[in-house]
Amino acid sequence: MKKYIQKLPKAELHLHIEGTFEPELMFKLAKKNNISIPYKNVEEVRKAYNFTSLQSFLDIYYAGANVLVEEEDFFDLTWEYLLRCKEQNIVHTEIMFDPQTHTSRGIKFEIVINGITKALEKAKKEFGITSFLIMSFLRHLSQEEAFVILEESIPFKEKILAVGLDSSEIGNPPQKFQDVFKKAKELGYKLVAHAGEEGDTSYIWGAINLLHVDRIDHGIRCDEDEKLLEYLKQKQIPLTVCPLSNVKLKAVDTMSNHNIVKLLRAGLMVTVNSDDPSYFGGYLNDNFESLVKSLDISKEEVKKLVINSFKASFLNSVQIEKYIEMIKEV
Ligand code: ADE
Ligand code: ZN
Repeated sequence: MKKYIQKLPKAELHLHIEGTFEPELMFKLAKKNNISIPYKNVEEVRKAYNFTSLQSFLDIYYAGANVLVEEEDFFDLTWEYLLRCKEQNIVHTEIMFDPQTHTSRGIKFEIVINGITKALEKAKKEFGITSFLIMSFLRHLSQEEAFVILEESIPFKEKILAVGLDSSEIGNPPQKFQDVFKKAKELGYKLVAHAGEEGDTSYIWGAINLLHVDRIDHGIRCDEDEKLLEYLKQKQIPLTVCPLSNVKLKAVDTMSNHNIVKLLRAGLMVTVNSDDPSYFGGYLNDNFESLVKSLDISKEEVKKLVINSFKASFLNSVQIEKYIEMIKEV
């Protein structure tokens, strides 16, 4: 099955570029930019990756992002992830970035976006990897601050396909961002939001009914509400599920109790993704392998999950069909 997973051309729809920051690169950039980090070496960093909740992870994740300063830093970060994509046969990726994590430290929006997009263009040219960018608002900050970053994004609009909503979920419900999502839609952005990762089903309903999202990031708590399950199935609203992340952040106790296969068999549009792979113990293929190891999942179901990722992507229907044909041949 490992070989089969490797061979399948795959898409990734839920990936935070700041969550691909490997400790080796973090140390290199900290030294270059003369920024201190509270760890002596790479081993000590990895040891700190023992999370008890989403917040315990976010504290470390934002601290790590502090060493990203110059355009080339954002390029290097993105390029390292794209090399993993090539290695893991990921042919299309929809990448989230958190501009507020950087602009709040005085880093210009254009530094962030130019570094990331230059790497994406190089990967398209050299490896044929297609990609889109999703600009995520930090939900622990205010809606006014989200409006500021939305405004700043306008000159770079052709480089950004969608907006998203991430960071601390509980206490920061979708309704807090209703107006800024409405404005983003008017500007022509596609919409996604994290919901139902730690938050209850009201967060998922809110993302659907108040933010009008095209996809839900995570959404694993949907099985606590029969009506919601039925709705997600009827409308085929995609869920970008991240199995290793859910176990690492204790949203699920063990992989064998993960509900992704149950949701797939119930007819929901579920997909597999890596979220923050450097922090959670693996990239996309590792997520698939972990599912195969712990859950009774067939080759056909693995294939279905991979096809779902293309169907749930923001690619056009011709591109989607082309990729699905490629998958069918494997
Ligand atoms: N930012 C990065 N990873 C995240 C996650 N899993 N949930 C919310 N915000 C995040
Ligand atoms: Zn996420």
